[in-house]
Amino acid sequence: MISHTIEILDRATHHDSKSDRTARRIMWLYIGSGLLLIGAMIVVGLGMRMAQGGMHQFDAGLFYRLMTLHGAAMMVGMALCGMGLLWYLFTREAPLNATTAIIACALILIGAVLVAISVLVGGFAAAWTFLYPLPFVGTFWPSWATGAFLSGIACVVLGWTLWCLQMLGGALTRYGGLRGAFAWDLVWSPSKFAESGRTPPPPQAFAVLVAAIDGLLAGSAGMLVGVALFVRWLDPTLPLDPLWVKNLTYIFGHTLANLTIYMPLAGVYVALPRYTHHRHWHTSAVLAVAWWSTLAFVALAYFHHLYMDFAQPRVVQYIGQAASYLAAFPPAVVTIFGGALLVYRSGFRWTLGSMFLYVGMIGWTVGGIGALLDATVAFNIYFHNTLWVVAHFHTYLLEGALLFVLGWVFHYLEERSGATSSRAVRALIGLGVFGGGAWLLFGWYLAGAQGVPRRYALQPAPGAEIGWWASLGGVILVAGLILCGIEAIRLARRPPRQDTSTA
Ligand code: HEM
Repeated sequence: MISHTIEILDRATHHDSKSDRTARRIMWLYIGSGLLLIGAMIVVGLGMRMAQGGMHQFDAGLFYRLMTLHGAAMMVGMALCGMGLLWYLFTREAPLNATTAIIACALILIGAVLVAISVLVGGFAAAWTFLYPLPFVGTFWPSWATGAFLSGIACVVLGWTLWCLQMLGGALTRYGGLRGAFAWDLVWSPSKFAESGRTPPPPQAFAVLVAAIDGLLAGSAGMLVGVALFVRWLDPTLPLDPLWVKNLTYIFGHTLANLTIYMPLAGVYVALPRYTHHRHWHTSAVLAVAWWSTLAFVALAYFHHLYMDFAQPRVVQYIGQAASYLAAFPPAVVTIFGGALLVYRSGFRWTLGSMFLYVGMIGWTVGGIGALLDATVAFNIYFHNTLWVVAHFHTYLLEGALLFVLGWVFHYLEERSGATSSRAVRALIGLGVFGGGAWLLFGWYLAGAQGVPRRYALQPAPGAEIGWWASLGGVILVAGLILCGIEAIRLARRPPRQDTSTA
């Protein structure tokens, strides 16, 4: 049934070119595999939350294995969705080689399989952040499982790096180097730029540029630390400096996690205006500068993960706090405020697609505020490694980035079929996904504010009490997502509209 659905999805309107069809197939390869991973891991996540709430019991080893799998696979799943969406949108701007994109995706999926084998068969359980010396000291899994996990992460990084190189190459070729891609002349010589008759890159091209450049930085750090850990795995006598490893691990992990939110934003830039009456999201000088800032701040904000590492030079702690604050301005001012203005009095059409895109911006804002509080040294003293952290990152990943992806998927299906979902279905899905989601998230915020630590299979009070009722929110959320899946299949199986090409 799934292959039939993909075939229908891929059946193009009669004026689609072969390259459009290939681009769509690749987008679905990425987004489809990403969503499958996310769907499976949501079930695992709910199992963990219910165990913490005392509804059933996992032995502690199993809990940490599942936590490792959940974290790693969610990150990979979200990255795949953002990569596919961005790749597809960018094929309308620049010719991109399909084989390269398929190889990148295959490498990432091979990496995901290796990680799954290391966790499910080998029992690897050092969390997706694999922070040194955790993968080597006090382990209860065989050494090969650590090797398989590191090899899996290496494959993911290779695939990611290949994708970043392809996107960067495409952007530089299309816009005439970094100067054109960054819209330098639009910002510094606006009148000359206007006279030249040139047009700046569209907003989504900035997401491409930032994902590719910061992504290459993150990928290089990931590869460097991965090789060091791999050598340590081969030769256990090799000493590594834990602080050096931690810095590299977080440049990789934090930056990748951040980019999984920025990548699907391209879908918001393209799809949200389609629900308004003749409004567009243009590239302005302000938008360009905002993305330049994002490029810098995303790369520097990772220092906030090392506040408690007192051996770090003090100056980088200040940089971490400043960059974390400053990173909030560009999206808040340009994307969220800009998005709200775009919708305001625009005769906005509410469909499932537009609802997800809009609520995703709210989730991103709420989670961002939670993260800013946590990145503030005075609060971090209390919130560090509590469930507050779990609360804020689930808010912008689950009720932000994932909603952007779902918004894009439904936008595509609605444009393609010319059909939308009924008001009742939208209300039910809204109640489940936003209502159940908020309920689940509130439990983490509340427990975090009371100091309940994160990454505990059995939590100190009031962890279990809160976990119990918060899990019910998770059940409602999953019910909403199942309904969402059924609705997506219903729309996907409708014949394509004959009069327009899709999204
Ligand atoms: C129904 C939805 C979900 C549930 C019930 C859930 C549940 C959980 C639980 C119980 C933990 C362990 C928290 C702790 O005590 O430290 C966790 C961690 C995590 N989750 Fe989720 N999750 C869900 C969705 C997601 C989504 C959509 C993402 C990302 C796209 C995600 C990414 C993560 C990550 C990165 C971790 C950290 C793992 C670690 O600490 O090593 N989760 N989740």
